[in-house]
Amino acid sequence: MTDNNTMEKITSLCKRRGFVFQGSEIYGGLRGTWDYGPLGVMLKRNIEREWWKLFVEQREDMYGLDAAILMNEKVWEASGHTGAGFTDPVVECSEGHRFRADHLEDVTVCPTCGAAFGDAKDFNLMFETKVGAEGTTTSYLRPETAQGIFVNFKNVVDSMSPKMPFGIAQIGKGFRNEIAPREFLFRVREFDMMEIEYFVREEEWETQFEEWREALWKWFDHLGLSRENVQELEVPEDDLAHYSKRTIDFEYNYPGKGFDELAGFAYRTDHDLKAHMEASGVSLEYIEPDGSRFVPHVLEPSFGVGRTLMAVLSEAYTEDEMGEGTRTYLKLPAHLAPYRVAVSPLLKNKPQLVEKAREVFTMLKGEFGNVAWDDNGNVGKRYRRQDEIGTPACVVIDFDTLGEEAPEHTDTVTVRDRDTGQQTRVKIAELVDSLK
Ligand code: GAP
Repeated sequence: MTDNNTMEKITSLCKRRGFVFQGSEIYGGLRGTWDYGPLGVMLKRNIEREWWKLFVEQREDMYGLDAAILMNEKVWEASGHTGAGFTDPVVECSEGHRFRADHLEDVTVCPTCGAAFGDAKDFNLMFETKVGAEGTTTSYLRPETAQGIFVNFKNVVDSMSPKMPFGIAQIGKGFRNEIAPREFLFRVREFDMMEIEYFVREEEWETQFEEWREALWKWFDHLGLSRENVQELEVPEDDLAHYSKRTIDFEYNYPGKGFDELAGFAYRTDHDLKAHMEASGVSLEYIEPDGSRFVPHVLEPSFGVGRTLMAVLSEAYTEDEMGEGTRTYLKLPAHLAPYRVAVSPLLKNKPQLVEKAREVFTMLKGEFGNVAWDDNGNVGKRYRRQDEIGTPACVVIDFDTLGEEAPEHTDTVTVRDRDTGQQTRVKIAELVDSLK
């Protein structure tokens, strides 16, 4: 269930329950930066882990990489990022308020103060920095992880001898000095990206494009995003990035915002490898077993982790009527939920219950890792708290477990399902299988 306030409710839940905090909050924040809290980092890592499993570990044609954020400035000259290809138009009013000119359709005066605008100027989105004590070497915080992959193309080919077609995947930070950061994690200045550069022979790019398109849909299914909330947008030729011949944006229907970009899928031709080959003087050709050589063409599925997390939370956010009043819960897929299960003793002042619950907790933690111990307040409140952070199941150890009530229930626990609220009794010996 979503309404116009859903994104505000999600943002507030994220802060209250330790998913996402404003960056540098105690100093008044730093615009366009967010910090992942204890539960947010668990959700984020689960997303990244599932992505890596699906796109790297479960395939034979994919290799991983973790390149440095700082790179030789020549990388960015060759890729076109220092030039006009990586700028946004900015306008400033006479009072110093700045806006992206392309976001101000038909607006002729400053929306903040009404003052007149000067002419639009191109603003490069890269953060420049100086390297070393002398400060004479310029570098940039990378605006995409992709270039780290291109400049390591030869290293990967030489060390791994991959067969065509093959890909290189990387998860890491990207930085863009966005003129107008906005909408929670949607447009920020520092973010995490999950990128793949898939190298193909030119003649096979269209077939491979279709295969990857399907693979992307499978990924969105795996995240639990319903198909009606994801759509493809064929990017018109005029709007294509400087390196691309064809791009499909995968858009998500964010609550209160509507469809907007979640991930990009671009055919980058041989633009990047050719550019780096020319600028560095190093051959980035692939040599076939028969000795023929060519510069591979590239398909690039590129995902923002923050936008993925926003889509996953938006899809999962649910309100219903259960018990007393409205309950809020996150219907997260079990493989993404921060905690797979929570364990509680019915009463925390009964040592036998606590001891037994600790045993069950240790067993489940050995199996699932991410298991919560929750003994605060009464059981009803614990369920509500776990619902709100998306824990799929709660396990309660009660007097039945100890054999004090009905002997047939000895060594069984109550398992309560997040989505239905239904409670079942399960033997401790069968608990792991039952939760799986
Ligand atoms: N290497 C290709 C590339 O960088 P992009 O469309 O500019 O393509 C890829 O970025 C993805 O990164 C986007 O689909 C989006 O999910 C995410 N992204 C880009 N800029 C972002 C920003 N300022 N804040 C949050 N996420 C961003």
